[in-house]
Amino acid sequence: MNSMITMGDVPGGGPAQMDLGELLATRLLVQGNSGSGKSHLLRRLLEQSARMVQQAIIDPEGDFVSLAEKFGHLVIEAADHSEMALHAAGERMRVHRASVVLNLEGLDADQQMRWAAAFMGGMFEVPRQHWYPVLVVVDEAQLFAPAAAGEVSDEARRQSLGAMTNLMCRGRKRGLAGIIATQRLAKLAKNVAAEASNFLMGRTFLDIDMARAADLLGMERRQAESFRDLERGTFVALGPALCRRPSVVRIGVVETDSRSAGPVLAPFAPPEAPVHDLILAPVAAQDMPARARRPAPVPQPDLLSQLAAHGEAQMNRAEPEDELETPTSQAEREAGMAAILRDMLGDEEAAFRPAPVLYQDFLVRCRIAGLGRNALDMRRFGRLLATARSGVSRDLSESSDWQQAESLAAGLPEDLQGVFLFLARAAIEQQPCPADADIARVYGTASNGRARRLLGWLEDRNLIVLRSDGVGRRVLSVIGAGWETLPGVADA
Ligand SMILES: Nc1ncnc2c1ncn2[C@@H]1O[C@H](COP(=O)(O)OP(=O)(O)OP(=O)(O)O)[C@@H](O)[C@H]1O
Ligand SMILES: [Mg+2]
Repeated sequence: MNSMITMGDVPGGGPAQMDLGELLATRLLVQGNSGSGKSHLLRRLLEQSARMVQQAIIDPEGDFVSLAEKFGHLVIEAADHSEMALHAAGERMRVHRASVVLNLEGLDADQQMRWAAAFMGGMFEVPRQHWYPVLVVVDEAQLFAPAAAGEVSDEARRQSLGAMTNLMCRGRKRGLAGIIATQRLAKLAKNVAAEASNFLMGRTFLDIDMARAADLLGMERRQAESFRDLERGTFVALGPALCRRPSVVRIGVVETDSRSAGPVLAPFAPPEAPVHDLILAPVAAQDMPARARRPAPVPQPDLLSQLAAHGEAQMNRAEPEDELETPTSQAEREAGMAAILRDMLGDEEAAFRPAPVLYQDFLVRCRIAGLGRNALDMRRFGRLLATARSGVSRDLSESSDWQQAESLAAGLPEDLQGVFLFLARAAIEQQPCPADADIARVYGTASNGRARRLLGWLEDRNLIVLRSDGVGRRVLSVIGAGWETLPGVADA
């Protein structure tokens, strides 16, 4: 397949092409001051290659969401999802080979770093059979791989820098091709910048950035002075996917809109009423805007609740008002539903399918048992499922220890509650620490790496402590409660 795309033209010298196949192996760094046209350049690159290669865009400002309309990218609003969910999304976008825009707008700097790291971590850790090529575009890369410690927490910086280093240094084998853009080369971590072999350098004013750019391009610093005079949308290109000698490239037009159109001068007429009154009129208390940095987000129903709502709507349609339901007491109904769930989980194959899939199955079985109209909603089903997956016995489930475990679990994201209860049960019952594979199974995944990350996550949040006994076997304690497992199998 011809893997050439046209980025624009060389002034006075025909089209400026980029070899996508080569780009996948050799990565790209774009730098230029604000307004030099980096985002425009990235957009051109993404549009031209959208039908040729899968793409992931880490978008701190929501600049690229418009790619969805024309090219069908899935836009993930990061603010609506947990860190864990983004890790899974990173993995799944590769499994299903979907192009994605990760919109990080509205998150604070610390969250932007952690959420982006989780997503990139998921893409990086996907099993080998899914290592198809993906362009991973990171705009404002200095936010995710800062050269110096800033105001964000060390933890966020460590995670995000790690993910960016993985992307640029170890991503190639896994099919990930990093394309990063930055306003200030001097603010970007050196090891991340150094791994790109292709460069597009736009207008740059500060000496320190120019010096770094000259070093990367192998130019004399004096020559780099010319970066000051570059016009908006014009870049000096160099690298195996672009050209063998530095050459000026003028980036072509784009098909989709940018939201950052920038300030535009527009004529305006003077206001009619006296300005003082217009601007300083007293404000009624109820009109006072909240001091929040941004309006409270309209809560978006998550995917699971949407599925649940869908299921309920389906069911209501299927059951006319006058249809008879076996009248039973609340307690009987709950016992009936618990029995249905036990039955479902008794089937080894089905037991560890994802919760939304199980929920659909559950609803059908409830209807068959005449419990349709009173079936649990998705949230309560999730709790029941978590309890069932923990493997707790009836006796234990009535103990005060278990109530304490459940209240600890209630503070966790829903998808983690089952895993936590499973671990807590092992600790309360003083059984051996579960192996990674068992933990993964309870979480509904085959990845042992995921299980270890879950443990790491719970440990980071001071819920559990892991240590190894003298012979390298894992022991797990639940912080605060004092429950502790026996040593698990070695190297679990
Ligand atoms: N090659 C070009 N042709 C036409 N318009 C361009 C070109 N490059 C940039 N522009 C326009 O210039 C403005 C600034 O460009 P862009 O947003 O890409 O800058 P940037 O380098 O990403 O800036 P920042 O670092 O502040 O995000 C935009 O309105 C964009 O549409
Ligand atoms: Mg930009």
